[in-house]
Amino acid sequence: MNNKLVSAKMAGIGAYVPETILTNAYFEKIVDTSDEWIVTRTGIKTRHVVGNSGEVTSEMSIKASRQALADADMSAEELDMIIIGTVTPDMKTPSTACFVQKALGAKNAAVMDVNAACVGYIYALTTARAYILAGMARKVLVVGCETLTSITNYKDRGTCILFGDGAGASVLQRVDEPGVGVLATHLAANGDFTDLLCVRLGGSRNPLTPENINDDGRYLYMNGSEVFKHAVRFMQNAAEKVIADAGVKPEDISLFIPHQANIRIIDSLAKRLSIPEEKLFVNIQNYGNTSSASIPIAMVEAKQQGRLKAGDLVLLVSFGGGLVWGAALVRF
Ligand code: UT7
Repeated sequence: MNNKLVSAKMAGIGAYVPETILTNAYFEKIVDTSDEWIVTRTGIKTRHVVGNSGEVTSEMSIKASRQALADADMSAEELDMIIIGTVTPDMKTPSTACFVQKALGAKNAAVMDVNAACVGYIYALTTARAYILAGMARKVLVVGCETLTSITNYKDRGTCILFGDGAGASVLQRVDEPGVGVLATHLAANGDFTDLLCVRLGGSRNPLTPENINDDGRYLYMNGSEVFKHAVRFMQNAAEKVIADAGVKPEDISLFIPHQANIRIIDSLAKRLSIPEEKLFVNIQNYGNTSSASIPIAMVEAKQQGRLKAGDLVLLVSFGGGLVWGAALVRF
């Protein structure tokens, strides 16, 4: 893809997480688990959840998006596209992006949702950049947002302890200068593994019926240990690809923000990529796995902590159900 004189700049970022917090002690009461198991096996201590607030994916997206637009000093009417990565849309149709468009007043924007599991943000970011580099869009709102608790089985100790809710947003803007913003992206998938992480019921393959409406198949199923086996290698490949494509050296990377799914996956990936601890961003302890929201939430937190500054080269990498994986290298 390449009009080398044009870049997709990261003009603004924003994030939102709901107020209610679930601690590991809460899970000790509802399933056979322990704080010690959860912390050592996953790194998670708390997660933010919508709980009884009634919040839904579009509402969290809207809050994160308003922040991102303010950060970019841009009005919603300037947007010509909104892309939302989510597997927990408000409804099957219309897209969550439609609800966000209306609430923001982004009346000039085309809208769509992207379903790429935990890689939703990187898939959406890549799509936005492609539109910008092709000259088909100038200002694109890119969101990763999940209400994962709406598809979590709170009787399954192997998954319920993992997930949280939240949203992260960013605004990509066309600039007529080379070498800024999203420098390289890589997306990949392998449909041999569709059964490792899925919600079996409620789609056209297995519609909900009065007979199956209470089956566990309506919740997210994950074969965690099998997913784990592939995660590190696939993410390493994607990360190495974007580093090579952008023509940078691994030591040029200022900050590494991996998808926050499991501290053991993160540590092992950072080791393989020779990323030192001070360049690794981890916040899984506070939010758990928020799927497509995890990377944009982490970007905002890294900025708030002074760990992500203008000019920094940031490596984003993620992995999820599909299986799908991908990476992006961004000059902030
Ligand atoms: O978000 C993108 C995609 N998702 C991921 O990348 C997640 C990848 N997978 C993982 O993070 C890990 O596989 C998990 C955290 C989900 C599970 O950790 P694990 O070390 O792979 O455990 P396991 O599934 O192999 O289970 C080991 C044992 C089992 O008991 P037995 O059969 O050895 O007696 C499980 O029943 O741990 C047991 N176990 C638990 N014990 C206490 C599973 N969940 C729990 C729990 N508390 N919450």
